[in-house]
Amino acid sequence: MEIRLNEKRALVTGGNSGIGAAIANELSKAGAKVAINYVSHPEIAEQMVNEIQAKGREAISIMADVSDSSQVEQMFSQLDTSWGGIDILINNAGIDGQKADGWETKLDDWMQVININLIGNFYCARQALKRMVGQKSGVILNTSSVHEIIAWTGHSAYTTSKAGLSMLTKTLAQEAAPYGVRVLALAPGAIKTTINQTVWNNRAGLNDLLEKIPLHRIGEPSEVAQMAVVLVSDAASYVTGRTIFVDGGMTDYPDFAHGG
Ligand code: BGC
Repeated sequence: MEIRLNEKRALVTGGNSGIGAAIANELSKAGAKVAINYVSHPEIAEQMVNEIQAKGREAISIMADVSDSSQVEQMFSQLDTSWGGIDILINNAGIDGQKADGWETKLDDWMQVININLIGNFYCARQALKRMVGQKSGVILNTSSVHEIIAWTGHSAYTTSKAGLSMLTKTLAQEAAPYGVRVLALAPGAIKTTINQTVWNNRAGLNDLLEKIPLHRIGEPSEVAQMAVVLVSDAASYVTGRTIFVDGGMTDYPDFAHGG
């Protein structure tokens, strides 16, 4: 089976770093036109666009802070102007936030994570769905996390945002299904990106992390990106409203390999 996304118009939020960048490149390889959204480091977004264009494929970059509804509206208008709409939204922009127990955390830090990861995701989904429901086709793929089901000390805003994304995914999927639009989520485990670099960069942190992963290695961004391409393609035409975990078995609770 060959997966082709020829002429599909895709937007990847947080598309100039980590998992988002890997997904943007993989979508492009499959033939999609890719809009790379970013909020900082425009030069990296530009470089990605240039590299994609050099291969004879279409790409643009769009600056927008997903936690600002008017910037999100403008980003979608820009897509309308450039490509006449959208077929695939990779709702990916997100941050881990500052580590702190809930009673110690600064409210501004807590709210920033919710505003980007959950509310920003909704702003983008809302704009995409208006268009997809109208054209009776489209796919939204939300980047969730294993932490939509695994609690994580010091990261209550992050876990709450991802758990919220899970129900947002299910509910929007139910609403959009009659229009032939799919909404689903992809939940990475520990993937080698800058978001968790401080952990995999030191021996003790890495060993601790590996104990939590049955496949006993950190995932590569490309391993998430390949699954993303499958999920937004017609190969997954009967999949909606679900979170698919790409986590090396992290949510299989490896501690239960013994005892219990
Ligand atoms: C976080 C990473 C973390 C991983 C596993 C992800 O959602 O962004 O920082 O390493 O979960 O805990």
